[in-house]
Amino acid sequence: MKNFKTQSELKSYLNSLNREKVKVGLVPTMGALHQGHLSLIEASQKNCDLTIASIFVNPTQFNNPDDLLKYPKPIEKDMEMLNEIGCDVLFHPDVDEMYQKNEGWNYQVGFLNTVLEGAFRPGHYEGVTQIVYKLFDLVKPDRAYFGQKDYQQFLVISQMNQDFKMGIELKACPIVRENDGLAMSSRNIHLNSQERKSALTLYQSLKFVRDNYQELSLSELLEKAQAFYQKDRLLNLEYFKICDVNTLEELNEKTATAIALVACTVGQTRLIDNVILP
Ligand code: PAJ
Repeated sequence: MKNFKTQSELKSYLNSLNREKVKVGLVPTMGALHQGHLSLIEASQKNCDLTIASIFVNPTQFNNPDDLLKYPKPIEKDMEMLNEIGCDVLFHPDVDEMYQKNEGWNYQVGFLNTVLEGAFRPGHYEGVTQIVYKLFDLVKPDRAYFGQKDYQQFLVISQMNQDFKMGIELKACPIVRENDGLAMSSRNIHLNSQERKSALTLYQSLKFVRDNYQELSLSELLEKAQAFYQKDRLLNLEYFKICDVNTLEELNEKTATAIALVACTVGQTRLIDNVILP
């Protein structure tokens, strides 16, 4: 696997390719890789001639400085995993390589910035779009792969791709889960054994809504889903919503294009998950 730390090295490598013939897939990550990340790389490998993974813990998208400090950075292990799966290129820059001091960014995310993750993590999507724009602009991939796990992020990036007419084909890949249903996340390593058990509630409540979507009313679904969180003092529910899958506007009545999304802290660790309904 080729491993580039600077934009200029990666750029000159990309310039040496015949981009008419070599279709490039990009998989942006923040590392601490797990099977969820690897599934995106595999999806790219199936459809592209060259797969580039990036690992960059992007400081501008962390609205909580503690979360940034605690974010795991097992780069040696990540590189082993990427090598093993046959990823072609790793781009792993330092912060100074991607940002000038006090650099600005004023892309307006709009409605999506006012709901769910946008509302609970002010500034998060500005940071995400700032770094993903830089990566898209640098690599100019034919396709880029993201996880449904961060569903709202996928919509935000899709909107940015349209607004800047970047013309990249964006793919959302299914959520990879542990055997018991917990969505894989780089943050799961922070959970102790008790918290790990409690964390299963996210999937259980989503599954409940999916399994009962036809039978129960919207308000019954929401009430019963929220009840999953009430008895466990390790859980602090931030939101549980049923929204339109395209706009993320909250539903007033059931439709065939819905998604249930949840964010919850488990002890000190904030987790998100979602399922598409019905
Ligand atoms: P990160 O959290 O490392 O996730 C990288 C990609 O992996 C995202 O597209 C995310 O949705 C996907 N992913 C994470 N867990 C997954 C799972 N269990 N199943 C399937 N896909 C999963 O998301 C980011 O990094 C950053 O915001 C980034 C886009 C890299 C910008 O900094």
